Amino acid sequence: MLMEYQDTLKEILSPEEIQKRVRELGEEISRDYESSPLMLVGILKGAYQFLADLSRNITTPHTVDFMRLKSYGSGVESSGQVTITKDLELPVLGNNVVIVEDIIDTGYTLDYLKKMLSLQNAASVKICCLVDKKERRQVDVNADYVGFDIPRGFLVGYGLDYDEKYRYLPGIYHLLPGHEPANFRPSDR
Ligand code: PRP
Repeated sequence: MLMEYQDTLKEILSPEEIQKRVRELGEEISRDYESSPLMLVGILKGAYQFLADLSRNITTPHTVDFMRLKSYGSGVESSGQVTITKDLELPVLGNNVVIVEDIIDTGYTLDYLKKMLSLQNAASVKICCLVDKKERRQVDVNADYVGFDIPRGFLVGYGLDYDEKYRYLPGIYHLLPGHEPANFRPSDR
Protein backbone atom coordinates (compact mmCIF):
# COMPACT_ATOMS: atom_id res chain seq x y z
CA MET A 1 0.00 0.00 0.00
CA LEU A 2 1.16 3.53 -0.66
CA MET A 3 2.80 5.14 2.38
CA GLU A 4 0.40 8.08 2.26
CA TYR A 5 -2.51 5.77 3.08
CA GLN A 6 -1.02 3.85 6.00
CA ASP A 7 -3.07 5.83 8.55
CA THR A 8 -6.25 5.76 6.46
CA LEU A 9 -6.58 2.25 5.03
CA LYS A 10 -6.24 -1.32 6.25
CA GLU A 11 -5.58 -4.00 3.62
CA ILE A 12 -8.29 -6.65 3.42
CA LEU A 13 -7.36 -8.30 0.11
CA SER A 14 -3.91 -8.00 -1.42
CA PRO A 15 -3.51 -7.46 -5.17
CA GLU A 16 -2.14 -11.03 -5.40
CA GLU A 17 -5.15 -12.57 -3.63
CA ILE A 18 -7.51 -10.69 -5.92
CA GLN A 19 -5.66 -11.71 -9.08
CA LYS A 20 -5.60 -15.37 -7.99
CA ARG A 21 -9.35 -15.41 -7.35
CA VAL A 22 -10.11 -13.56 -10.60
CA ARG A 23 -8.09 -16.20 -12.49
CA GLU A 24 -10.21 -18.93 -10.85
CA LEU A 25 -13.45 -17.14 -11.72
CA GLY A 26 -12.23 -16.72 -15.31
CA GLU A 27 -11.51 -20.44 -15.56
CA GLU A 28 -14.93 -21.32 -14.13
CA ILE A 29 -16.76 -19.00 -16.54
CA SER A 30 -14.67 -20.29 -19.46
CA ARG A 31 -15.76 -23.85 -18.66
CA ASP A 32 -19.43 -22.87 -18.26
CA TYR A 33 -19.61 -20.95 -21.55
CA GLU A 34 -17.36 -23.21 -23.60
CA SER A 35 -19.98 -23.71 -26.30
CA SER A 36 -22.33 -20.75 -25.95
CA PRO A 37 -21.98 -17.07 -26.89
CA LEU A 38 -21.07 -14.97 -23.88
CA MET A 39 -21.56 -11.26 -23.27
CA LEU A 40 -19.99 -9.59 -20.25
CA VAL A 41 -21.83 -6.54 -18.95
CA GLY A 42 -19.67 -4.41 -16.66
CA ILE A 43 -21.41 -2.01 -14.28
CA LEU A 44 -19.63 1.34 -14.14
CA LYS A 45 -17.80 2.69 -12.50
CA GLY A 46 -16.93 0.22 -9.77
CA ALA A 47 -16.44 -2.84 -11.98
CA TYR A 48 -13.90 -1.38 -14.39
CA GLN A 49 -10.84 -3.08 -12.86
CA PHE A 50 -12.59 -6.39 -12.21
CA LEU A 51 -14.12 -6.52 -15.70
CA ALA A 52 -10.76 -5.94 -17.38
CA ASP A 53 -8.97 -8.61 -15.33
CA LEU A 54 -11.82 -11.09 -15.62
CA SER A 55 -12.09 -10.67 -19.39
CA ARG A 56 -8.35 -11.33 -19.75
CA ASN A 57 -8.83 -14.59 -17.84
CA ILE A 58 -11.78 -15.89 -19.87
CA THR A 59 -10.42 -18.05 -22.65
CA THR A 60 -13.67 -18.48 -24.61
CA PRO A 61 -14.83 -15.81 -27.11
CA HIS A 62 -16.97 -13.09 -25.54
CA THR A 63 -18.19 -9.57 -26.13
CA VAL A 64 -18.03 -6.74 -23.59
CA ASP A 65 -20.40 -3.87 -22.93
CA PHE A 66 -21.03 -1.47 -20.05
CA MET A 67 -23.92 0.07 -18.17
CA ARG A 68 -24.13 2.66 -15.46
CA LEU A 69 -26.96 2.73 -12.95
CA LYS A 70 -27.84 5.10 -10.19
CA SER A 71 -29.65 4.10 -7.06
CA TYR A 72 -31.03 6.93 -5.03
CA GLY A 73 -30.43 7.10 -1.32
CA SER A 74 -28.83 8.91 1.56
CA GLY A 75 -25.23 8.51 0.44
CA VAL A 76 -24.35 5.17 2.02
CA GLU A 77 -27.84 3.67 2.02
CA SER A 78 -29.68 2.76 -1.18
CA SER A 79 -33.42 3.42 -1.30
CA GLY A 80 -34.16 0.83 -3.95
CA GLN A 81 -35.04 3.32 -6.68
CA VAL A 82 -32.75 2.47 -9.59
CA THR A 83 -32.37 4.25 -12.93
CA ILE A 84 -30.11 3.65 -15.93
CA THR A 85 -27.77 6.55 -16.68
CA LYS A 86 -25.80 4.73 -19.44
CA ASP A 87 -27.45 1.96 -21.38
CA LEU A 88 -25.97 -0.99 -23.28
CA GLU A 89 -24.89 -0.47 -26.86
CA LEU A 90 -24.91 -4.13 -27.93
CA PRO A 91 -28.18 -6.07 -28.29
CA VAL A 92 -29.01 -8.45 -25.47
CA LEU A 93 -31.43 -10.65 -27.44
CA GLY A 94 -30.32 -14.27 -27.50
CA ASN A 95 -27.09 -13.64 -25.62
CA ASN A 96 -25.89 -15.37 -22.48
CA VAL A 97 -25.19 -12.40 -20.26
CA VAL A 98 -22.90 -12.36 -17.26
CA ILE A 99 -23.29 -9.12 -15.28
CA VAL A 100 -19.95 -8.14 -13.77
CA GLU A 101 -20.21 -6.14 -10.54
CA ASP A 102 -17.65 -5.05 -8.00
CA ILE A 103 -19.98 -5.41 -5.03
CA ILE A 104 -23.51 -6.51 -4.11
CA ASP A 105 -24.79 -4.69 -1.08
CA THR A 106 -28.56 -4.22 -0.67
CA GLY A 107 -29.06 -6.01 -4.00
CA TYR A 108 -31.41 -3.36 -5.41
CA THR A 109 -29.15 -2.57 -8.38
CA LEU A 110 -28.75 -6.17 -9.54
CA ASP A 111 -32.34 -7.15 -8.84
CA TYR A 112 -33.50 -4.36 -11.14
CA LEU A 113 -30.89 -5.12 -13.79
CA LYS A 114 -31.42 -8.86 -13.86
CA LYS A 115 -35.17 -8.40 -14.40
CA MET A 116 -34.57 -5.79 -17.07
CA LEU A 117 -32.14 -7.91 -19.08
CA SER A 118 -34.46 -10.91 -18.89
CA LEU A 119 -37.27 -8.73 -20.29
CA GLN A 120 -35.00 -7.96 -23.26
CA ASN A 121 -34.92 -11.70 -23.98
CA ALA A 122 -31.39 -12.56 -23.03
CA ALA A 123 -30.88 -16.32 -23.41
CA SER A 124 -29.65 -16.33 -19.80
CA VAL A 125 -28.59 -13.79 -17.18
CA LYS A 126 -26.05 -14.60 -14.50
CA ILE A 127 -24.19 -12.46 -12.00
CA CYS A 128 -20.49 -12.41 -11.21
CA CYS A 129 -19.47 -10.17 -8.32
CA LEU A 130 -16.10 -9.70 -6.73
CA VAL A 131 -17.39 -8.90 -3.25
CA ASP A 132 -20.65 -10.13 -1.77
CA LYS A 133 -22.10 -8.48 1.33
CA LYS A 134 -24.91 -10.97 1.91
CA GLU A 135 -25.68 -9.66 5.41
CA ARG A 136 -26.75 -6.32 3.92
CA ARG A 137 -29.26 -7.71 1.43
CA GLN A 138 -32.70 -6.06 1.22
CA VAL A 139 -33.95 -8.06 -1.78
CA ASP A 140 -33.50 -11.69 -2.70
CA VAL A 141 -30.78 -11.62 -5.34
CA ASN A 142 -27.78 -13.95 -5.42
CA ALA A 143 -24.62 -14.03 -7.47
CA ASP A 144 -23.72 -17.12 -9.50
CA TYR A 145 -20.00 -16.41 -9.27
CA VAL A 146 -18.62 -14.77 -6.12
CA GLY A 147 -15.06 -13.65 -5.54
CA PHE A 148 -15.13 -12.99 -1.81
CA ASP A 149 -17.67 -12.72 1.01
CA ILE A 150 -16.84 -9.69 3.13
CA PRO A 151 -19.57 -8.89 5.63
CA ARG A 152 -18.36 -5.64 7.21
CA GLY A 153 -16.51 -2.39 6.77
CA PHE A 154 -16.46 0.38 4.21
CA LEU A 155 -14.43 -1.03 1.34
CA VAL A 156 -12.33 0.89 -1.15
CA GLY A 157 -9.83 0.05 -3.88
CA TYR A 158 -9.86 -2.13 -7.01
CA GLY A 159 -12.67 0.01 -8.46
CA LEU A 160 -14.44 0.80 -5.20
CA ASP A 161 -14.43 4.42 -4.10
CA TYR A 162 -15.21 6.78 -1.29
CA ASP A 163 -16.13 10.11 -2.83
CA GLU A 164 -14.32 9.05 -6.06
CA LYS A 165 -11.04 8.39 -4.21
CA TYR A 166 -9.08 5.10 -4.01
CA ARG A 167 -10.58 3.39 -7.10
CA TYR A 168 -7.18 3.01 -8.76
CA LEU A 169 -5.58 1.01 -5.93
CA PRO A 170 -4.80 -2.63 -6.82
CA GLY A 171 -5.96 -4.15 -3.50
CA ILE A 172 -9.12 -3.87 -1.39
CA TYR A 173 -9.02 -1.97 1.89
CA HIS A 174 -11.18 -0.91 4.83
CA LEU A 175 -11.31 2.74 5.66
CA LEU A 176 -9.98 2.97 9.21
CA PRO A 177 -12.24 4.41 11.95
CA GLY A 178 -12.21 8.18 11.79
CA HIS A 179 -11.88 8.13 7.99
CA GLU A 180 -15.26 6.59 7.20
CA PRO A 181 -18.23 8.68 6.00
CA ALA A 182 -19.91 10.53 8.88
CA ASN A 183 -23.17 8.60 8.51
CA PHE A 184 -21.51 5.20 8.09
CA ARG A 185 -22.53 2.58 10.65
CA PRO A 186 -19.92 -0.20 10.82
CA SER A 187 -22.55 -2.60 12.14
CA ASP A 188 -24.57 -2.12 8.98
CA ARG A 189 -22.10 -2.15 6.19
C1 PRP B 1 -22.15 0.43 -6.12
C2 PRP B 1 -21.71 -0.90 -6.70
C3 PRP B 1 -23.00 -1.49 -7.20
C4 PRP B 1 -24.03 -0.96 -6.24
C5 PRP B 1 -24.35 -2.03 -5.26
O1 PRP B 1 -22.19 1.38 -7.11
O2 PRP B 1 -20.78 -0.73 -7.73
O3 PRP B 1 -23.31 -1.08 -8.52
O4 PRP B 1 -23.44 0.17 -5.57
O5 PRP B 1 -25.24 -1.57 -4.31
P1 PRP B 1 -26.66 -2.25 -4.04
O6 PRP B 1 -26.48 -3.73 -4.01
O7 PRP B 1 -27.02 -1.68 -2.68
O8 PRP B 1 -27.60 -1.79 -5.10
P2 PRP B 1 -22.24 2.95 -6.83
O9 PRP B 1 -23.69 3.39 -6.88
O10 PRP B 1 -21.48 3.27 -5.59
O11 PRP B 1 -21.56 3.57 -8.11
P3 PRP B 1 -20.03 3.42 -8.62
O12 PRP B 1 -19.81 1.98 -8.99
O13 PRP B 1 -19.96 4.32 -9.79
O14 PRP B 1 -19.13 3.85 -7.48
